[in-house]
Amino acid sequence: KYMQLVDNYQRRFQYLRLSITELCNFQCQYCLPNGYRPNKAHKFLSLSEINNVVATFTELGVRKIRLTGGEPTLRRDFMDILSMISAYPSVKELAITTNGSRLLKNIHNWHQAGLNAINISIDSLSPHLFKLITGQDKLKELMQCVDRSLEVGIKKVKINTVLMKNMNDNLDDYLSWIKCHPVELRFIELMETGESLEVFNRYHQSGSLIETQLIAQGWQLQSKNPLSGPAKVYVHDDYQGKIGLIMPYSKDFCKSCNRLRVSSIGKLHYCLFGDAAVDLRDLLQSPAQQQQLIARIFSSLMIKPEKHLLHAHNVGITPNLSYIGG
Ligand code: GTP
Ligand code: 5AD
Ligand code: SF4
Repeated sequence: KYMQLVDNYQRRFQYLRLSITELCNFQCQYCLPNGYRPNKAHKFLSLSEINNVVATFTELGVRKIRLTGGEPTLRRDFMDILSMISAYPSVKELAITTNGSRLLKNIHNWHQAGLNAINISIDSLSPHLFKLITGQDKLKELMQCVDRSLEVGIKKVKINTVLMKNMNDNLDDYLSWIKCHPVELRFIELMETGESLEVFNRYHQSGSLIETQLIAQGWQLQSKNPLSGPAKVYVHDDYQGKIGLIMPYSKDFCKSCNRLRVSSIGKLHYCLFGDAAVDLRDLLQSPAQQQQLIARIFSSLMIKPEKHLLHAHNVGITPNLSYIGG
């Protein structure tokens, strides 16, 4: 048995966010305002390299794996990746974060292959605004995706909405929608990245505005479990759905950080922002390298920063979140 992953600030890591591609077919204003431009030097992790990542991190106590991107479902071997990961008994939660573009036809098979949690990005419930924000005319299809995911038996369905001032910050439509939809709708504070500076300056809005309204309407804060993400989740007896708030600009956001990230080119990133990262790739070539890989992970764990640099307005180092998987 190996030691568990705990950093200098007594934070424990059982949740791995694994990016499997940088490629994306959407053009969300806050993420890829100029669209996806391939970096020819980047070759994404192969199935066998991914397997070595998973084998090692599960040895170190990881219990939840979220596949991210780019858009993870664009990989041709996506089904194989799911089946391979879900074969590890210690992976209790196998999740993806997706824009939903390939969901409708495939969700049944993904669920069969072991996917048990899904976060779908839906940035507005107005078709017009949705298109403006994401560059896609797909709101109707995405609403069907939500229903379909629940139908095939995925128990954890969450919706991600990046909060944008005067665009999608009116609660009313969302509230009537989740009245009878058992999903968790999360508002995410727009984060400043290298490519999103203009959008950030124009649209950033604090999540506390939503929080105040929720509390005034009788919503109550739910307690967290060790595998849950960074959202503060509110519940209300009159609603089947929940509302989560992801507020990286709030004080103490990073105190409860419980995740590590591996990028699609095999770098272990210790934070979404900043340059604390270590390349694992040369040690992902064979299961026989596991000891060395574990040694490298442990010796670098202490570089995980206490908190992100968002408040420092010094975030150009992360060009966009699709680069390391949000
Ligand atoms: P679950 O709670 O497990 O569903 O996961 P999650 O909320 O971490 O996953 P998701 O991929 O849906 O992320 C939603 C948003 O939260 C994205 O915009 C992420 O970039 C953001 N986010 C997740 N973890 C962190 C973090 O550690 N730091 C910051 N700043 N943002 C994060
Ligand atoms: N700020 C906040 N959230 C972002 N996402 C992508 N870029 C940003 C940003 N700059 C979100 C997407 C998706 C998740 C993976 O990350 O909306 O829900
Ligand atoms: Fe693509 Fe996701 Fe970025 Fe939107 S947020 S452009 S769907 S990677």
